[in-house]
Amino acid sequence: MAATRPATKRDGFTSTLGVLAATLGSAVGLGNIWKFPALTGANGGAGFLLIYLLATLLVGLPVMIAELTLGRHARANPIRALRMLAPPGQPWWLVGVIGMLAAFLIMAFYSEVVAWVFVYVWKSLEGSALSSDPAVTEAAFAAMVGNPWVSLVSQWLVLLLIGGILVKGVAGGIEAVTKRLMPLLFLLLAGLCVFSLTLDEAAAGLAFLFKPDFSKVDAAVVLTAVGLAFFKMSIGMGTMMTYGSYFRSEQNIPLTAGRVMVADLAVSLLAGIAIFPAVFTFGFEPTAGPSLVFITLPAVFAQLPFGQGLMLVFFILTSIAAIGAMLSLLEVPVLVLTERLGLPRPLAIGVCVLAVAVPGAGCALSGSVLAGVRVAGLTFFDLMDFVSSNLLLPVGGILIALFAGYVWGRAAFTRAVSNGGTLRNEGLAVVVLVLLRYVSPLLIGVVMLNGLGII
Ligand code: PFF
Repeated sequence: MAATRPATKRDGFTSTLGVLAATLGSAVGLGNIWKFPALTGANGGAGFLLIYLLATLLVGLPVMIAELTLGRHARANPIRALRMLAPPGQPWWLVGVIGMLAAFLIMAFYSEVVAWVFVYVWKSLEGSALSSDPAVTEAAFAAMVGNPWVSLVSQWLVLLLIGGILVKGVAGGIEAVTKRLMPLLFLLLAGLCVFSLTLDEAAAGLAFLFKPDFSKVDAAVVLTAVGLAFFKMSIGMGTMMTYGSYFRSEQNIPLTAGRVMVADLAVSLLAGIAIFPAVFTFGFEPTAGPSLVFITLPAVFAQLPFGQGLMLVFFILTSIAAIGAMLSLLEVPVLVLTERLGLPRPLAIGVCVLAVAVPGAGCALSGSVLAGVRVAGLTFFDLMDFVSSNLLLPVGGILIALFAGYVWGRAAFTRAVSNGGTLRNEGLAVVVLVLLRYVSPLLIGVVMLNGLGII
């Protein structure tokens, strides 16, 4: 059956600023707030930063450029793009299917964490969950996670919000919203940094983050850095391919990817500068993950002047960071459904929201009624995280690197990266191609095998 193309113009980003805001919106997320700063501090400060920088340059940027370029060239969802660009009969489109699956699994647990952040915006307004005693903040967090209705309903609200923005379209929804939210994020973060730097133990916090300690850098740390670069830059699952399909033809892709990488790094560093001076000033442990955001930080805020207001600002900015990431995740299957099945956009969004809500409920209830349910020793929540981060994303990343590096071909790749020869990007394209062929697949492969406990 011949697929019929809709006659209407394809939706897409309308300006360079819009492209930047949306793409950065995808990269910036919960990862900047709770993963990056704590991992940097715990793994050797500036030494880790250097390795992370190398990982983004050698793996993150090339794969991001490849995804954006493939998407823009095909102007289609990842499954269709790979089917169009692959030689006949080769099932590269399956990489798009893996990506879509990864998007669903990530959304299932990510949306629950975003839901907690939203609940904490509310708690900040109320002033509840604010106590200088970490035992009290821990109990407040446990009560929220252990309440099935709060967990479920807040997750549904997050999904409805994201779906509601996406209904407005790519330009009218994703671009319009991220263009407003990204500057606000930087502003709020900068404000928190200035405040944090005035605290007594600011120097200790900064030392934790930036003091180089190369003795901590070993193979495991290198692997952590590569894995982090991957998650941070939203690559390996077709998100960037989807967004690339909305890029304008004249957009300079390597330049855009470079800017996104630098701005994303800036958000991560600013988050560290905002968080650690405060954590050290009150003698807390610099942990990572939920305990940092939902247990330690509220205890820190309780001891600061204007603590309630600062806590509100912090959770609002974390919500802002998470919204852009969620938009890009949900857009992946939405585009597939609209293009593949010809569903109207609102219907496609409705179907996808429902489809996320099912595994999402498994994650939401992991802390309460499903707490005892384990698969391979993991709760539903941890299982989704493990399968997507340690399995599907790296496999997708390797295959995308190999596809762009070997299958699509040097001539097609360099032409597409240099916008048909109008940009002087050919030399750069060759460097990216070499990295895609020889460096990225190898590094990602090692990270994956390590994540699976094989090496
Ligand atoms: N980059 C996001 C973060 O750092 O939180 C997470 C993410 C978003 C991963 C979108 C993958 C993705 F497709």
